[in-house]
Amino acid sequence: METLNMLNSRKAIREYSGQITDEQLHKILVAANAGPVGMGNYDDYRLTVIQDSSILSKLNGIYDAPTVIVVSAKNPSHMEYISSGAIVHNMELAAEDQGIGANYNMACISSIPEGIIPEFFKPIFAITLGQTTDKFTDRKIPMDKIKTNIIK
Ligand SMILES: Cc1cc2nc3c(=O)[nH]c(=O)nc-3n(C[C@H](O)[C@H](O)[C@H](O)COP(=O)(O)O)c2cc1C
Repeated sequence: METLNMLNSRKAIREYSGQITDEQLHKILVAANAGPVGMGNYDDYRLTVIQDSSILSKLNGIYDAPTVIVVSAKNPSHMEYISSGAIVHNMELAAEDQGIGANYNMACISSIPEGIIPEFFKPIFAITLGQTTDKFTDRKIPMDKIKTNIIK
């Protein structure tokens, strides 16, 4: 998909019709690794891919998604929170470029069971993923969705 079209057609998908393939997951993980993180400290972050239904069933607010990827960080502060957003956003775009349904998710973070996230890392932000029957078409985004001052 052409990049600007894709940005306009991106949308939260909360209904999933099946599991993503390993190949699709691979592309999403490559996109996560392509994401920017503050100071380039990639080792301060971890990705945890959850596809085990017994764990997924314990997560709040994931809309029965068959895959959840959690970004966690060591001693998170502003920079780690912002970087996690960038990582998740890259994954979201890589998902939707492949026609996969995806959505940002904070709702599940506090319900992640003990022992899932690597030791010393704190879960920050997640993405829910799954096949979708929804189509991604240009949403004609209005310019004033986010009020803007232009100072020249
Ligand atoms: C930081 C952040 C946290 C979010 N957390 C959730 C969430 O927990 N559950 C959910 O259904 N959507 C969540 N969303 C998705 C937003 O609700 C959604 O992106 C917004 O309503 C705009 O809709 P759109 O993505 O379709 O343009 C989150 C989005 C962001 C950026």
